[in-house]
Amino acid sequence: MKLERSGLPIFLDEATSLLSFADGLVCEESAAKSTAKLAPVLLDPQAGTDETAFDFYKNVHFPKDEALLKQYRLRFDITVVHPGLVGGERKKTTGHIHAMMPGKTTPHAELYEVLSGTAIYLLQPDPGPSGRTELIAVTLRAGEKIIVPANCAHCTVNAGSGTLVFDNLVLESGANDYGVIQAHKGMAAFVIERDGALRLIPNPQYDPAATDYKKGAVIQSAALGTADPLPTYRSFVQSPDTYRYLQDPTPYNEAIAALLRTEPLTLDAEG
Ligand SMILES: [Fe+2]
Repeated sequence: MKLERSGLPIFLDEATSLLSFADGLVCEESAAKSTAKLAPVLLDPQAGTDETAFDFYKNVHFPKDEALLKQYRLRFDITVVHPGLVGGERKKTTGHIHAMMPGKTTPHAELYEVLSGTAIYLLQPDPGPSGRTELIAVTLRAGEKIIVPANCAHCTVNAGSGTLVFDNLVLESGANDYGVIQAHKGMAAFVIERDGALRLIPNPQYDPAATDYKKGAVIQSAALGTADPLPTYRSFVQSPDTYRYLQDPTPYNEAIAALLRTEPLTLDAEG
């Protein structure tokens, strides 16, 4: 199946969830992560096996665009989260927060775009001095985009019935910190499947009295590129200056935060 939403010659084999690239589109390297490797962030750490949870395709680009991506210090990657469960939980990415890079005043932001399937993005802003954890669950479908603000941990869950494919445009040199999420054995909620329906349940590692659960909806922005009907890669190549906020979001932090509308969410009972 061609991933038309990407605007690129990318093909998904729905039987294996593997991607292939054509017409000169290159991928620097790819890596698979098994569900066993997700153990530190699973509801049931023993449930992992050598089955793939997700594949990461790093630095996907046309050679002609390499200089532009370098000039803007950005990288375009694709992640494929396989269908299926691990210990009753939907397959997901590990979850991380962006590390502060030298010379910056805030960590970098990141732009995601769903290409196929349905995702739940779990966002968790840094609690800061308040000490309160806020978990925001945002459902995105193919063609929808979200900007993850700076200082916000994030994890992507496959919430559809098939393979989930999404891309990201992100600071090329940006580093990820996995420790914050692993210290709590995952994000503040798990997406599980019970009786054929998806449910969000709380992670017992978080104090329920100090955790606020929210449902989020994305407001698209023309200024920050998410309202552009063009797929992210093509939008960047056409109007790269629009994506300057991905290099350093400091002047844009408030504008990015304003793109997420939230309302309280009641989680399902645990177990
Ligand atoms: Fe990230």
